[in-house]
Amino acid sequence: MMKGPEMELKGQVALVTGASRGIGAATAEALAERGIKVTVNYHKSKEAAEKVVANIKAKGGQAITVQADVRDNNQVKKMVESTIRDLGPIDILVLNAGAEVPWKAFRELTYEEFENKVMGELKGFFFPLKAVIPAMIERKKGCIVGISSGLSRHPGFGFSAHTTVKSGVDGLMKSLALELGPYGIRVNTVAPGLTITDATSWLPKERIEGTAQATPLRRVGQPDDIAGAVVMLVSHEAGFITGAYIPVCGGIQMI
Ligand SMILES: NC(=O)c1ccc[n+]([C@@H]2O[C@H](COP(=O)([O-])OP(=O)(O)OC[C@H]3O[C@@H](n4cnc5c(N)ncnc54)[C@H](OP(=O)(O)O)[C@@H]3O)[C@@H](O)[C@H]2O)c1
Repeated sequence: MMKGPEMELKGQVALVTGASRGIGAATAEALAERGIKVTVNYHKSKEAAEKVVANIKAKGGQAITVQADVRDNNQVKKMVESTIRDLGPIDILVLNAGAEVPWKAFRELTYEEFENKVMGELKGFFFPLKAVIPAMIERKKGCIVGISSGLSRHPGFGFSAHTTVKSGVDGLMKSLALELGPYGIRVNTVAPGLTITDATSWLPKERIEGTAQATPLRRVGQPDDIAGAVVMLVSHEAGFITGAYIPVCGGIQMI
């Protein structure tokens, strides 16, 4: 039987950006398991997004796919309109889509690569936030989770652009927690450590193993680990948590 707090999540509407694969897909499925209706946003991977929705529906959940490049304001506006039309007003926004990480030393990084990563990812936060926040303010209700990275606070060699943008994400989330708190809107940041997804598939096995061994919990992350933190933050039990930065990394980076 469904417990009280779960009932409070049931029927809410979530928009998860970049939910066709990896952390976003796991998050969409985890939210749907709590009875939340979910928009599975994708950019290029239509089939993968449809599979996420099929998985959700197979478990009795409700979800739709919406194609949109989150760096494009018009596409984002249409995505938000489709969500409201098909599922209802948006209660939960998970900003997960990230631009590809150019892994190279700063001295080899071009300005174009830097700008694509930094501005691409910030646009992917800015436009959905702009499209969703006004109705949240009006309804005096909302929960926003930004997916950052442990690298926002602990730089890694070759990740200067990633660390730059994720530090920006942390600052943006904290600023919004301050500005939107009076309207009953909570804004938090989840900072994954190394997590096994397509984005990390290029890493040598030894590096993954080395990270696991250096991690107090002796393993690297799986998408479900990150999804679990998002579920925790959107739950009723987290009702007094805002402006928080939650590392989900098995303890390799303690703050
Ligand atoms: N994996 C890690 O170790 C790790 C660690 C720390 C932080 N993170 C962060 O976690 C988030 C998800 O990473 P991941 O590892 O799950 O990545 P992933 O497996 O590569 O998946 C990326 C997802 O983002 C979507 N996406 C990319 N660009 C988009 C755009 N312009 N518009 C809409 N969707 C877009 C992709 O959709 P399509 O396939 O449809 O294009 C895909 O669903 C990112 O913000 C990343 O920085 C990951």
